[in-house]
Amino acid sequence: MIVLRRLLLPVLAVLLAGVAQAQSLKIADRQGSRTVTAQQFLADPAVQTVTIANDSVYGRSMTYRALPAAELLKGLAIAPEDYVEFTATDKFSIGIPARLLLDPRAHAFLAIEAGTEPWPAIPGHGKETPGPFFLVWQNARRGEISSEYWAYKLASLEVTDSPYKRWPALNVANDLPSTHPARRGLDRYVALCISCHRFNGAGEGEMGPDLARPMNPVDYFQPEAFRKFLRSSKSVRDWPERKMPSFVEDVLSNDDMEAVIAWLTYKARQH
Ligand code: HEC
Repeated sequence: MIVLRRLLLPVLAVLLAGVAQAQSLKIADRQGSRTVTAQQFLADPAVQTVTIANDSVYGRSMTYRALPAAELLKGLAIAPEDYVEFTATDKFSIGIPARLLLDPRAHAFLAIEAGTEPWPAIPGHGKETPGPFFLVWQNARRGEISSEYWAYKLASLEVTDSPYKRWPALNVANDLPSTHPARRGLDRYVALCISCHRFNGAGEGEMGPDLARPMNPVDYFQPEAFRKFLRSSKSVRDWPERKMPSFVEDVLSNDDMEAVIAWLTYKARQH
């Protein structure tokens, strides 16, 4: 028994530390950081019960205990042109414009999962729930609140400069005409693709391959196959571990898809 306890206690301590860590959110701005546990959040009087009519992860109406994004960001050194980088426990990371998080029309909330009342599993993800922290939007206007902005399994958030400022190499030339589709394409790339992909090293995405190194997809994909791939990646290749999402027209309109391809093409020809 003593031997067992000697062996088990450290193991338990490590396991419990892991659980405690997974159920807290690290919040950082340029000046410092703090960590808030799910329990501490749930005790915040600003937490309310919110119903999300069209939850992007569950595809149906959901009700959560949630903190308004404005309350979440209160007290942080943050400017409207800043971004907030949300990082999930699986390394998924997405920068969201502070402007949108603070937009009273968008109604962004941080939903908090109570350990005692787990949420239903994410459809198609085994037993995983989007908890302990999940960013939800009560008014996700199409073309503005990207599907990637429904960030779940969150571990941290950090106030940062905009991606355009952090990775100037992504930008198009200043003298590129304002009507050139590559401009809109960059905007859509930053909203929809940068969370998983880097471009020539620029970005923090770690889930998918770099889209410029060693080769830009516009240099090896037949144009029609590329469009098919973006609409439904499994129509080009399929395997159990496939993670590249399929971008339906609601999320990426035809014009926006052409714009993303225009930006990739512009970048491929820039050097
Ligand atoms: C949630 C993460 C994620 C997002 C968001 C994402 N991708 Fe991917 N992408 C992947 C992964 C992972 C792969 C590698 C293949 C796989 O596992 O499915 C991939 C592969 C690719 C490839 C390589 C295809 C090939 O086989 O050569 C291209 C091109 C691509 N993605 C483009 C995009 C574009 C453009 C966007 C934005 C409109 C985007 N991806 C958004 C995760 C993502």
